[in-house]
Amino acid sequence: MSADSETISNAVRWACAAPSVHNVQPWAWRLRRGELELRVDRLRSIPVEDPAGRQLIISCGAALHHLRVTLEHNLIEPIVATFPDRGQPDLLAVITFRGRARAMSADAGLFASLERRRSDRRPFDAPPAGSLVGLARHASVFGASAISLSPQFGDMLARAATLAAEEHQSDPAYWNELESWIRSAPTADGVPRSALPDALSIHESASARAFPSGQLRIGHGVRDDAALILLSTVSDTPIDWLNVGQAMSSLLLHATASHLATCPLTHLTEVESSREIVRDVASRSGETLQNPQVMIRVGLEREPSDAVIDAAGSETRIEEHRPGGTGRRPLEEVLTVSS
Ligand SMILES: Cc1cc2nc3c(=O)[nH]c(=O)nc-3n(C[C@H](O)[C@H](O)[C@H](O)COP(=O)(O)O)c2cc1C
Repeated sequence: MSADSETISNAVRWACAAPSVHNVQPWAWRLRRGELELRVDRLRSIPVEDPAGRQLIISCGAALHHLRVTLEHNLIEPIVATFPDRGQPDLLAVITFRGRARAMSADAGLFASLERRRSDRRPFDAPPAGSLVGLARHASVFGASAISLSPQFGDMLARAATLAAEEHQSDPAYWNELESWIRSAPTADGVPRSALPDALSIHESASARAFPSGQLRIGHGVRDDAALILLSTVSDTPIDWLNVGQAMSSLLLHATASHLATCPLTHLTEVESSREIVRDVASRSGETLQNPQVMIRVGLEREPSDAVIDAAGSETRIEEHRPGGTGRRPLEEVLTVSS
């Protein structure tokens, strides 16, 4: 298939299925004379939680990787120049296109996962032994490192979660900003309450960000056996953030293809005191890179009828509730096509 403007526009539509922090979708695309530009849209920033814009650029990296997957699926090779102009730091990538006879990258097979992937905040069963090693390998393609955090450091991570929660809870500006992205009805952006645990289920898992109460019924004290994968980078610059976003997308889509449920987490890496503990846990787990960026919960989705043993040792049943899908901004709002 040739890289005509309709094909590229359609690929951008799929790129925008990418996850983004609080579903802010901070991307602006421009297609001009066969070149596609990706910019970070600072008007959609969350300055209290993410003053440096790290999570905005990670989100754009995820969209860039989603674009690669779609193009590869259409037998188009993307040639990506990242940060091509020092004078325009918000211009993250310029992409040109070349047709190819057959798919070259393993990512081409991920296309079906773009639609199926979603952030799942319910407790999971543990992923099958060995499944995480394969997933971690995908991160290195984009210069990030992924390691699985050993459950033996659970107490340290719980301490990190407490520190992050204390800092967030004492900051009304953080809560106002977070609440401004929570949606009670389906909308084009933000996190719908249907994707968030209800009031009774909140704080069930120490590894989850506390959100305002949602509609996802999980139950009391249900054990979470999710694995935690941490993505880290060599340095802490916008290039690292864009790369780690691509690595995160690759890992999430490969997990989806393997029927694993996932959720990205950044509440422990956006607060310096908890990030320091995460860095320590990572290095005790064998990580050599010093900049923790994103954690990903990974596990097996439980069947609604599954009985699970809660923390107190009694049997409960998983409620038949799935997280609601999140909206996306219309293509016309995020893509400009000019001649
Ligand atoms: C950089 C980044 C950070 C995120 N941080 C969190 C988080 O801390 N907690 C959480 O539950 N979800 C987090 N998410 C998931 C987003 O809320 C989710 O991607 C968005 O609402 C869109 O929903 P979807 O992933 O189901 O498409 C994060 C996603 C990204 C890309």
